Amino acid sequence: MITELKNMWKARIWMKTNVPFLYSWHAYVGFDLNLFEAFKRPMRVEDVADAYDLEFELLEQWAEVGVALKHLKRDDKGRISVKKQWKLPGAKKDSPSSGDLLKEMMELHIPSLLSYPGLMKEKKRQHFDNEEHGSTVARTSTLLELLAFHLIQRNVKKHSIQSILDIGCGEAGYLKRLAKKHPDLTLKGVEINEEVAKRAQKATESFENIEIIHSDIDDYQPDNRIDYIMINNLLHYVDPDERLDFFNRVNEVMSDNGIATIISPLQKARHGKQFSSAFNSFFLTFDNLYPIPSEDELEEIANEAGFTMEKPTALIREGGWFIVKFKKTS
Ligand SMILES: C[S@@+](CC[C@H](N)C(=O)[O-])C[C@H]1O[C@@H](n2cnc3c(N)ncnc32)[C@H](O)[C@@H]1O
Repeated sequence: MITELKNMWKARIWMKTNVPFLYSWHAYVGFDLNLFEAFKRPMRVEDVADAYDLEFELLEQWAEVGVALKHLKRDDKGRISVKKQWKLPGAKKDSPSSGDLLKEMMELHIPSLLSYPGLMKEKKRQHFDNEEHGSTVARTSTLLELLAFHLIQRNVKKHSIQSILDIGCGEAGYLKRLAKKHPDLTLKGVEINEEVAKRAQKATESFENIEIIHSDIDDYQPDNRIDYIMINNLLHYVDPDERLDFFNRVNEVMSDNGIATIISPLQKARHGKQFSSAFNSFFLTFDNLYPIPSEDELEEIANEAGFTMEKPTALIREGGWFIVKFKKTS
């Protein structure tokens, strides 16, 4: 009897623990099918099912869950409409949005975490297909721009920067913002993913001072030395055994007194350990993605590669996300 009670009690705990997942799942489905747009004004579920060509009972069930979670409400005529607009992801066309982050979590992170038992038993890793997932990942990273840009801009002014290289520039969000504020800067972005690089080229075609190069950074040699090198959300693509070489090269192509900034979640940081360990668990399921660095690892690399490192500044505390500055010393 006692054992049965204990089991029941534990089951209740795990059921409760899983409730937050339901909120993410509901928001993910709503974003992916643009349902929060469909139900912006009160609508009958059958009308939306017809208009969007969706299976009625599943849509009805999704609406039911939404009402239970208070994402949606049902009026006295049975029509459904959005209740918590402020919290829910916006329309797909307004991407990048919080919906892109939900999509990445649901389609990439959660399935990878669920593959742990199989991967452990088979003693293998999966392969990260950068061509397939590159666009999603590049887009979600841009959500950090808002928090990081003022710090990057402060560096530009403080160090009288004239040229910037963004390694793994994604869709060139930082470069575009920089070009708008500083038309005199020489700005270059290197991006390995062809589709992402094309988007970056398109997004920056009106800026004469931005050049986007579709290349692996390992194959790229700039014509002139560069004052400021940005390494934003890239280090998990670099094998820890190769990180020192990577920073030695960064040093080689950097002007004297140049700087680099690294944006990354940090392992074992003062804040956000839950998030950074989950992130690492995801990366570790792939044979071509690597653990995020720790502050100690970066400090050691900085010293060996001829930089001094400043104390990391938190960008998102609960996410363990930091910006770290390296200054070239030799
Ligand atoms: C997570 S995204 C970050 C994008 C952007 N830096 C940001 O923070 O918003 C990392 C980007 O680096 C690119 N990348 C990865 N390895 C690379 C390499 N060896 N050379 C150039 N780009 C690379 C990926 O294709 C991806 O677009």
